[in-house]
Amino acid sequence: MCKKEFWQNKRVLVTGASGFVGQNLLPLLRATGCQLCAPSHTECDLLEQQQVRILIKEAAPDIVFHLAGLSGGIMANKQYPADFCYQNLLMNTLMMHEAYLGGVEKYITLIGGCSYPASAPSPIVEEALWNGYPQPESAPYSLAKKMNVTMAEAYRTQHGFDAIVLVPGNMYGPFDNFDLQNAHVIPALLRKIYEAQVNGAEEVTVWGTGKPVRDFVYVGDVCEAIVIAAETYSAPDIINISTGKQVTIRELVERIVAITDYKGQIQWDKTKPDGQMHKGFDVTRLHQWLGFHSRTSLSIGLQKTLAWFVENYETARLDVPVQPNRSKSAS
Ligand SMILES: NC(=O)c1ccc[n+]([C@@H]2O[C@H](COP(=O)([O-])OP(=O)(O)OC[C@H]3O[C@@H](n4cnc5c(N)ncnc54)[C@H](OP(=O)(O)O)[C@@H]3O)[C@@H](O)[C@H]2O)c1
Repeated sequence: MCKKEFWQNKRVLVTGASGFVGQNLLPLLRATGCQLCAPSHTECDLLEQQQVRILIKEAAPDIVFHLAGLSGGIMANKQYPADFCYQNLLMNTLMMHEAYLGGVEKYITLIGGCSYPASAPSPIVEEALWNGYPQPESAPYSLAKKMNVTMAEAYRTQHGFDAIVLVPGNMYGPFDNFDLQNAHVIPALLRKIYEAQVNGAEEVTVWGTGKPVRDFVYVGDVCEAIVIAAETYSAPDIINISTGKQVTIRELVERIVAITDYKGQIQWDKTKPDGQMHKGFDVTRLHQWLGFHSRTSLSIGLQKTLAWFVENYETARLDVPVQPNRSKSAS
């Protein structure tokens, strides 16, 4: 439940509003009664300093949620490492700097769990952030995102600028990317198994052994935690936003099979890699510092996501190739 009095008369700018997190955060922000500005990529290219400066001047926000970024799956990260590094570094730098110059009161941005060292023991505690190199395949992206943490601390120290950085875990939910080339595990499996059910396919092949363990968090819960952090949290330390509960990929597949009512066979292709065996997030800070507990169980979250996907199948993101050269200054 948001603190309505906090948001009254607040001017709020959201970048990346058309993305997965943005689409889920906007309704929560609208419900606060704040004055919302959510320009599209076409209206403002965040790789162009002049456009960012004009945006901040015209929107004159008290609060900025900077969600825009160039993101993609492992294949895209391998194909465009320079773009992932350059574009994320540039847009984060321009946004934070111009927000500071524009007198923004509070700046909130997100980094991913991939910014943690590949060797971080699970459940991953926030203190592990600087203990090693991230997974090499996506390191240009992850390290560019991670610079937000250093920048936020530097701007807080030198300018007293209130920038906070949050770390959602493995998110899933409505408006996710369901493109099988780029999707995360839940949207990919939901789509594959749902389409197999609709098409009467006899089997679905899933990569690996099903033994890896993950911690999945519903995007609606993440957005609630982001709003609470905007209202109450002002410190340089990052906070994981996840459930702290772990589930195997096999259990996940079983749940999706059950909710889609798929009657065919699941074939486990054990020749394909499992990836990291354990990846979960410590949520002590989330509980103690934000007083927030994720409340959407995996079963409910999967049902909500499937219902949304079925209802929005025609307009869902089924085919979204990463387009690093959309922006004028990108290459
Ligand atoms: N998704 C996850 O599981 C996850 C996990 C942890 C952290 N995060 C972080 O959370 C944030 C939001 O993620 P998301 O999944 O919502 O991302 P997303 O769905 O890929 O959306 C990215 C948004 O950024 C916009 N954008 C990209 N380049 C831009 C530019 N040059 N100028 C203006 N806008 C631009 C996109 O607009 P167009 O589509 O029009 O280009 C889109 O609205 C990102 O910072 C991401 O790193 C995500």
